[in-house]
Amino acid sequence: MSLLPIVIAPDRRLKARCLPVERIDDNLHAMIQNMLETMYDAPGIGLAAPQIGSDKRVIVVDVAREGQDKQPYCMVNPQITLKSDEYVMMNEGCLSLPDIFIDIERPEKIRLTYLDEREEPRELEADGLLSRCIQHEIDHLDGVLHVDYLSRIKRELILRKLAKQKPTLMAERAERRATAE
Ligand code: NI
Repeated sequence: MSLLPIVIAPDRRLKARCLPVERIDDNLHAMIQNMLETMYDAPGIGLAAPQIGSDKRVIVVDVAREGQDKQPYCMVNPQITLKSDEYVMMNEGCLSLPDIFIDIERPEKIRLTYLDEREEPRELEADGLLSRCIQHEIDHLDGVLHVDYLSRIKRELILRKLAKQKPTLMAERAERRATAE
């Protein structure tokens, strides 16, 4: 397993629509394991394939609190089948947009289908933080970032600022990865 560099916005790989996975092979298994390791190391509660430069419809999520047992979900081709009528506001962050937190209103509960890492079809009902995190990660698979919920002016301001900080942020993270391995 290895830690992967996380793509930082603005980057066109974060704006692409990802492709469904046809088969879960050894390469995809390795990618999923690396995504989990990279997410835990960040640390973060979710990571989507475009954030490591892949265009596959794959996300990993673990919203367990510190001190709790790990509760990883590896989801291939996740698809939301039902959204609650009730919406809630939550503050979201993103590993690809460091230190940018945004209040977003989304459905409180969702139902979804996906394939697990063994290619078993699964169905899940989620609410609270798990629902929120899954919705954020599935957005990534369609090239949607949390800043896309803002007005164009606010979004462009944030992305311009990030573009300037990017070389420094990437160097800091590369250094961290080098010391971690
Ligand atoms: Ni994100």
